[in-house]
Parts: sequence; C-alpha cells; structure tokens
Amino acid sequence: MDLQLPPGKIWQQLASHFQTLSDVSLQDYFAAEPDRGQRLAIEFGPLYLDYSKNHINQQTLDLLLELCNECQLDQHIADLFSGSVINNSEQRAARHTALRNPEYLTDTVFKQQLQTEKRRIIQLHEALANGQIAGFSNKAIKTLVNIGVGGSDIGPRLIVNALRTTSDEPAVHFISNLDSHDATKVLAAADPETTLFIVASKSFTTLETRQNFQRAQDWLLAGGCPATALEQHFVAATARPQAALAAGINSDRIFSFDTSIGGRYSIWSIAGLTAMLAIGPRQYDEFLQGAAALDTHFVNSDPGTNMPVILALLDIWYRNFFNTAARAVVPYEQRLADLPAYLTQLFMESNGKSVSRDGQSLSWQTGGVIFGGTGTTVQHSFFQSLHQGTTLIPVDFLVASQGDSDHAALFASCVAQARALMLGTTDNSLPAHQVCHGNRPSNLLLYENLTPYVLGMLLALYEQRAFVQACLWNINPFDQWGVELGKQIAGDLQDKLTGTQKMADADDDLGDDSSTRRLLQHYRHNKNQK
Ligand code: F6P
Repeated sequence: MDLQLPPGKIWQQLASHFQTLSDVSLQDYFAAEPDRGQRLAIEFGPLYLDYSKNHINQQTLDLLLELCNECQLDQHIADLFSGSVINNSEQRAARHTALRNPEYLTDTVFKQQLQTEKRRIIQLHEALANGQIAGFSNKAIKTLVNIGVGGSDIGPRLIVNALRTTSDEPAVHFISNLDSHDATKVLAAADPETTLFIVASKSFTTLETRQNFQRAQDWLLAGGCPATALEQHFVAATARPQAALAAGINSDRIFSFDTSIGGRYSIWSIAGLTAMLAIGPRQYDEFLQGAAALDTHFVNSDPGTNMPVILALLDIWYRNFFNTAARAVVPYEQRLADLPAYLTQLFMESNGKSVSRDGQSLSWQTGGVIFGGTGTTVQHSFFQSLHQGTTLIPVDFLVASQGDSDHAALFASCVAQARALMLGTTDNSLPAHQVCHGNRPSNLLLYENLTPYVLGMLLALYEQRAFVQACLWNINPFDQWGVELGKQIAGDLQDKLTGTQKMADADDDLGDDSSTRRLLQHYRHNKNQK
C-alpha cells in the first residue's frame, strides 16, 4: 500500500519501519518481553496508562518520538500556553488552558474578567442555595435547565451526570435538540414557578439554542408567568453579552467569557455555568485543578513519559500507517456515560480537517471517527465487531482502580476485554465462526476513582492529545468551518418551506437538485393534507 504521509524524513523512516512489523503480533511482543506490561506504562498522580497492548517496539516509539522534534512540538505547546494567535483562520488565540491556570498568561484584562465572573458565580450559587433566587410567584428556584448545544451542552452535561447524585439539589436538566420533543420531555417534569434556565451559548446566535430559549419563554408564559417577570427565570452564559441583552436577559444575569475560548474547549469557562452551579464552586475548582495538573505534566514531561503525547503518537501510528478509520472509547463507569459523546465533538470537530494550517489541501489522513459507550453495556453491541470484524478499531478502555464491593466484576470485565482483544482465542479446535484472532490493540487508562480532580485530568488529557495530533498533522484544531454550510442551506430551505414564496406545483424551485426538491415537496404535500 502506498502511504500518503506528511513531508519529513521521520515519516518516511516510520513507513519503512512499519513494513518490518507486519508479521509481528501483539502476542509475540508479550512473549518476547516479559516486562512489557511494566515498561510501556506511565503513572502520573491518580492516573496510570498501560499502552503495552499496541503494535509498537522500541524502535517504533523512538521514531514516533522523533516526529515531535520534526514538527517542533515544543514550540507549538509554548504557543498554545502563552496565548499566541494559533487559531489562524479566525485570528484568535486558544486560551482555554489559562482558565485552569491563569498564570500562563500575562493578559491582566483576561485575568480580571475571570476573577470578576468567578466572584459573581459564587454569589449566584450561594443565593440559589439559600433560596434567595425566586421565580415569578416568589417561590425559590428548585430546578436548573441548561439550554445549549455542542460545547455549551455536552461538557456541563458530562460533569453533572458524572459528579452529582440524582437526589442533589437543585435538580438539573438539559435541553439541546432543535427537535421540540427534547424540550417537551424536560419541561413536562418541571414547574414554571421554580425553574431557572441557563442559556449557554458562546455566540448567542445558535439556532437550536435560540429556538429552545423561545420555547422556554412560551412555556413560562403558559404556566402563568407574567411577561414582565420572565427575566427572573433566565441567566445567560456567553461570549457575546450584548446579544444576550438584546434577547431580553437582564444584565445582572449575564455571565461572560472571552471569545478566545472555543466551544468544545469551553467547559472550563462560564459556558460551564450550569456545571459550576450544580456541583458548587469548591468541587468545580478541584475539577480545574485536575486539568491544571495534567497541563503541568504535559508542558514539563519528556515526550517519552508524557501521557497526552504518547497517546497522540499511537493515534498517528494507527491512523496514518495502519489506515484505521475509527477509535472506540469505552469507560467502564456509568457516570462517564457522556464521555464518548464529549470526545466525539472534541476530536471530530477539532481534527476532522483536510487543509493544513496555511490552507493547503492535505494528502494524508487526519482525525477519524471517535465513538463509544460505557462498559459493560457496549460489550453487548459493538464489541462483536471489535473482536471479529474485518476493520481494525483500536480501543481506549478507562476504569477506576478503586470502587465498592461490586467493583471487582466491572474491573475484571474491562481488563478481560483488553486481554481478549490482544490474545484472541487459544483453543485450536474451535470452529471458524468462534475464533477470535486477537492481535487487536488497546490502551487501558486507570484512575483511582472518579473525583472532580480526576475528571479534570481526564478531559485535559484528551484535549492535549487532540492538540498533539493536530500539530503532527499540521492542522488548526480550533476552528470548525465545516459546520457552517449545512446551517446555511437549512436556513435557505426553511425559508422556502415556511416563507411567503409561492410554491404551488410540483416543479417549483424548492431546491437546486432533484433530490432536495422532491424531499421538500413531500414535506409540503404532507403538511397541506393536515
Ligand atoms: O456548530 C458548531 C458549534 O459552533 C460548536 O463548535 C459549538 O460548541 C456549538 O456550535 C454551540 O455554539 P454556541 O455556544 O455558540 O451556541
């Protein structure tokens, strides 16, 4: 196979080296290296990464590590942390790391905004806890509903579901989808008199969020809220406070963050307001501290002992040499059920790109598919394909090393799956349909237990891993222009469906292609029959 690789001597050396490994299996590596499991591991604080079940030998690692020099990874990391304008297509810095440790920056305005907003959030949290925030009928707020989508939804949702119990107060819910069933279901269980909506949107223009904001207002009005009291039920978290003000949110209830914080990197910012209020400022601080600790590890460790760097290099190895299209992420922890979706956005919106930082078309593969679900549940769905399918899908397993008395079964299941993927079946008498050939790679990430600190570390670990991938592929991970076209066409088509344009016969110009035209005609036809 002719590999399409980024330019550079080391990439070519890796290509030659890759050919020499084709006959070596994971089983062979383990048989030949009794200490492999200890050697190919990194421990940092409560995290322990075992990356021994990968198709690598020492030479592979040495060459992959050389790639870091070839792409000047050190300089890229320095530029990220110092707040340089690295998001060149939007002429912005990407300052999310400064949200967990402001000392990386010298920008006093940025730091002051952080301090001010932090104080205001502590006050809001206290006022909520003391029952001082009331709805239109003067009853204290009991339910928070986050309205947001993408980074303004998945991150806060992940934290709330990971770190709260269902009996914690206030109750917290999320509305995200444009589909009205989402809002309808959430609001059916809420009381208009005691519900506070947090409208989270960096841009404050996103269709889903604007629409759900409107639905929330309609629901409040229908529930007896006078129009003049609507503002008591809304808080905004945004990088465009003027837009929130124009939409009718009271200025005292608008919390803002800097435009240099990307949507999928915004859980550390005010965009995570619902999470901050839900778990409280103290736990939220621990979450930030965990991320800051991981950043320190990332900045200061040699590449060979650097968790995000090693993980990114392995991703590159599979994507660009084995030509794998996907990676599965499987936390054996129900509280991390939202992690795969969070990582899907993080990796696919960051690194699903086909032009270089300077706008040249790329001939090599970049970010593939990231998907997953929680173990053990997904053992009963896509694991069949992981074990016996024709596509090689590397896996990230995550599991706590500590737990309650039931935890042994969960822990054993996780480690067993990694071992089974590596080893395969060993009974030679099995019929072909029962044979697992093994030789399938995985990483296993242990964490002591799921605290706010550990969650912060995990999310920062994946963030920095995505960043290193982007540096090696020479792409900008901080923009997402690809999402714009579909939004624009949807707007045009909606105008054609609901606007004043006359569309009486079957041949009218609903769309420029026959498929779109036909589909829209179906909608109109069905609508007219009602
Ligand atoms: O459509 C993509 C996107 O811009 C994401 O990057 C972002 O997380 C999401 O939409 C929501 O954007 P906003 O916070 O501006 O509403």
